[in-house]
Amino acid sequence: MYKLLQDMNIDNKKVIVRLDLNVPFKDGNILDDFKIVQSLDTIKYLMDKNCKIIILSHLGKVKSEEDKKKNSLEKVAVRLKELLKSNVIFSKQNDVEELKGLVDKINPKDIILLENTRTQDFPKKRESGCDLKLAEFWASLADIFVFDAFGTSHRRHASTYGISKYLPTCIGLLVQKELEMLNKNVINAEHPFTIIMGGAKLDDKIELMNKLLPKCDHMLLTGGIANTCLAVIGFQTGNSLRTKTPEITEQVKFMLKKYKDKIMLPFDVIVGNTYDDKFIDQKNVSEVEANEEIKDIGIKTINIYKDIINNSKSIFVNGTVGLYEDNRFANGTREILNILSNSGANVIVGGGDSASATRNLGYADKFTFVSTGGGATLEYIIKERMDALEDEETTEDIEVL
Ligand code: 3PG
Ligand code: MG
Repeated sequence: MYKLLQDMNIDNKKVIVRLDLNVPFKDGNILDDFKIVQSLDTIKYLMDKNCKIIILSHLGKVKSEEDKKKNSLEKVAVRLKELLKSNVIFSKQNDVEELKGLVDKINPKDIILLENTRTQDFPKKRESGCDLKLAEFWASLADIFVFDAFGTSHRRHASTYGISKYLPTCIGLLVQKELEMLNKNVINAEHPFTIIMGGAKLDDKIELMNKLLPKCDHMLLTGGIANTCLAVIGFQTGNSLRTKTPEITEQVKFMLKKYKDKIMLPFDVIVGNTYDDKFIDQKNVSEVEANEEIKDIGIKTINIYKDIINNSKSIFVNGTVGLYEDNRFANGTREILNILSNSGANVIVGGGDSASATRNLGYADKFTFVSTGGGATLEYIIKERMDALEDEETTEDIEVL
């Protein structure tokens, strides 16, 4: 459906590439370079074809002058240079003639990384408001546009959708792989197909769950999502993280009834106490008290989920099981990752938090694929297209068909 990089005649061309280099920072340093590493294949491919490469990416959100300084891609340029062992020029230049001059001057295989696209979001939202003048300016620097920013493929911005209006456009190798993995192992997964859903908020995920439930054999719930379901069916969940809006309650009731044979909820949980930080206990879900908070799944639940995982051929993981950042509540997340890694199933991890947990706990290489997308993964599964490269009218046509 989308044009592939391999199908383009790009030898010796000027190519503008939109990547998602939105990496986490701590104390001014890159905390995790996963997204940079995942972007290298496309860059190397373009280098092999003797292209001049201009890279665009966003970093965080820019709502003030202060954010512009804080969210600079300068350190990302340094890391990119280290990883590629090649010439990466970082440029904050906004003057089109100056930039064109720079592109003319560089050699084939050289790379220019432009400053965070969202610096254009203050004082006016030019990037995220999809200002076509801005898109045209970026497009004027190159002959071809390669879209390889899967993590932002659900956003119709000037540096994504906008540029595609002005240049021959294709998807890069990372987006190609992400779509292939999601198409094969989630949208058209081999059965038995199990989905493990976790994370904080059910209102963000209910649309996805309703889309996936008819396709899967089992959906194992954990985290705030499970807490919300437990509360809806009448369990005391104390002060546990959960969604409380009345509309959600009705939707959840309907979903739990309709898919009662597929949805599994925790049997036992690890709880903390809102007023006593030292308190921690393991109990059945029926025993949770008003001043307690569910923070992880218990051993019985892990074992029941294990049997289902071990009988599955495909598994999609979205969201973390417990509050894994606190070691006392990390057992469920760690155990489930361990069981998944030994299951022999095709495992796809999609969703920002579950992907970080997978990498932080050392399981990144153990699965079929760990997506670079968070919201983007979920939106692709729901819509089976990327808003970043689609006209609104066209997408509606596709849905009707
Ligand atoms: C992400 O990290 O989720 C992607 O880079 C998209 O970022 P955004 O949610 O700020 O658009
Ligand atoms: Mg996001």
